Amino acid sequence: MLYSEKVMDHFEHPRNVGEITNADGVGQVGNPKCGDIMKMYLKINNGVITDVKFKTFGCGSAIATSSMATELIKGKPIEEAAKLTNAAVVEALDGLPGYKMHCSVLAEEAIKAALADYHRRRGEEVPEELRLPCDGEEHGCCSCGH
Ligand code: FES
Repeated sequence: MLYSEKVMDHFEHPRNVGEITNADGVGQVGNPKCGDIMKMYLKINNGVITDVKFKTFGCGSAIATSSMATELIKGKPIEEAAKLTNAAVVEALDGLPGYKMHCSVLAEEAIKAALADYHRRRGEEVPEELRLPCDGEEHGCCSCGH
């Protein structure tokens, strides 16, 4: 079987799909390898992620990794969510085929972009680990997909 049971489960029944209208941070990223897009919404209370939703125009692996990523950061402090790596998400899903690893990057980057947006909205400096190649703004000026 190419995909683990967990990947198939999260692909067929993705958790936390949708949007949050009054989100505290929103991040959108694109995958330069395939053009797929991910949007992440965070509700943050006292430094803790109380709700998270995502929407994607992406493949099954992007859906499964995002679904798992939202489950991993829900209820966690933002500092912890900022450290979530795509490798950790893939591990929680019992692996992905090598050529689909790039799909898992979308979830990690979308979370980072949403957290960066949260800090920006509060007038705070965006921590170094949350900075994406173009800082999450939609400039269309680099190859990171924004
Ligand atoms: Fe684009 Fe998977 S093929 S995210």
